[in-house]
Amino acid sequence: MTDKAPSVTIVPGKLPATQRLLYLAPLRGVTDAIYRSSYAEYFDDIDLAVAPFVTTHAGRRIKPAHVRDLRPEDNRNMPVIPQVLTKSAEDFITLADHLFDMGYGVINLNCGCPFPQVANKGRGSGILCNPDGLDRLLDTVLSRIANRLSIKTRLGRHHTDEIRSVLPIFNRYPLESVTVHPRTGIQMYAGEPDLETFAWCLDHCRHPVIYNGDITDLTRFQELERRFESVAGWMIGRGLLANPFLPDLLKNGSTVDDKQKTNHFGRFHDALFERYRDRLSGPGHLLDRMKGLWKYFAQGYRDSETARKQIHKARSIEQYKAAVTAFLECGLEWNS
Ligand SMILES: Cc1cc2nc3c(=O)[nH]c(=O)nc-3n(C[C@H](O)[C@H](O)[C@H](O)COP(=O)(O)O)c2cc1C
Repeated sequence: MTDKAPSVTIVPGKLPATQRLLYLAPLRGVTDAIYRSSYAEYFDDIDLAVAPFVTTHAGRRIKPAHVRDLRPEDNRNMPVIPQVLTKSAEDFITLADHLFDMGYGVINLNCGCPFPQVANKGRGSGILCNPDGLDRLLDTVLSRIANRLSIKTRLGRHHTDEIRSVLPIFNRYPLESVTVHPRTGIQMYAGEPDLETFAWCLDHCRHPVIYNGDITDLTRFQELERRFESVAGWMIGRGLLANPFLPDLLKNGSTVDDKQKTNHFGRFHDALFERYRDRLSGPGHLLDRMKGLWKYFAQGYRDSETARKQIHKARSIEQYKAAVTAFLECGLEWNS
């Protein structure tokens, strides 16, 4: 695998035609524009990304800083769909209009965020226990925005059954797609995805359905693909962060020798490091950001915890670089 030239340009709202549509999942604080565009420079096979959520602010004009991560000039390498977290129709419309003017023809509504400070206020997965409120929100918003809308949802806030009241509402509106992460909000990331209820969603949703959750290797993916033939796309988050070669494996069955993978990953890492160094103010922020990424990166390798801890302990850029070199040169095997 060689460093590649960007193969896609941003065409908001236009999906590239491929057999297996692979999405990069939104992970707030992780899959920002620098990560997305660097990923697209070093790896193929992600078709498009949903960006981490942007919140709305009551009655306020949208400040450029608020949507900075979505600046078209920083998002040319990978098509991106902005995501909105809100329960207010008016605030949603204000933000949607702004995003439309920035060139985003499709936006995504977050119906999945599990964090209590969000969900307890009726946003994210909290919206799923108020089907009437969701209905009103969609009714108002969809009659007034120029963007097309997709949704990313969990099965419920408290119970997987909540989706059975919510999906008929989704079916009433013209949605671009519905991405389902088959867990409840209170589950956070514990337990297995509920594939039975996902199967129900797939059977009952009239929109294209995208599967999301725990895709970490080829075997798992093939099982899901065999079981859910009518899925329109697959969204991958943590599995891709741990193993950025995963989309290539899933799409093309490509396998690359461990040493080559580590060399390539090292170059990707260095590009991220340089770009975050340019963007973030000071070594403290840079180290925090890179250490945050290593929580995921290290999971791509077998028996990597000791080497990762050395990275985590770094207090200066020099120590960090030395620990990363030691990690990459100690001959660890990739998990998949
Ligand atoms: C740190 C973190 C941040 C996340 N931020 C978002 C977000 O902004 N919007 C969203 O819809 N989901 C968010 N998610 C959920 C992921 O998009 C995804 O649904 C979840 O990680 C399951 O997919 P995976 O198993 O492929 O990672 C986040 C998850 C994590 C771990």
